Amino acid sequence: MELDDELCLCFHVSRRKIENFIQRTKPQRASQLSECLGAGTGCGWCRPFLKRLWQRAQTSPTSVHEDPATVAIEAVSANEYARQRADYRQQQDEQKS
Ligand code: FES
Repeated sequence: MELDDELCLCFHVSRRKIENFIQRTKPQRASQLSECLGAGTGCGWCRPFLKRLWQRAQTSPTSVHEDPATVAIEAVSANEYARQRADYRQQQDEQKS
């Protein structure tokens, strides 16, 4: 996933916007990332990824590209990320019915 790919697909929030928001506002809790254009407040798929980016900022804010969480997020393509989210949403729908 590239910096300009959407991390929160529900609200079209890119990874770059999230990372800039973290740097700029230094949120005290991962849940505060919802203040960045509503990220994470839709289907919930992106919440673990948001949390990882927030946790990374708590431990090593300067070594972004060496951080395991960042490497894991970068390793998945935007298409694969969207496909996994579609599976996640389908599972959610099945659980509701
Ligand atoms: S992808 Fe972020 S809440 Fe659905």
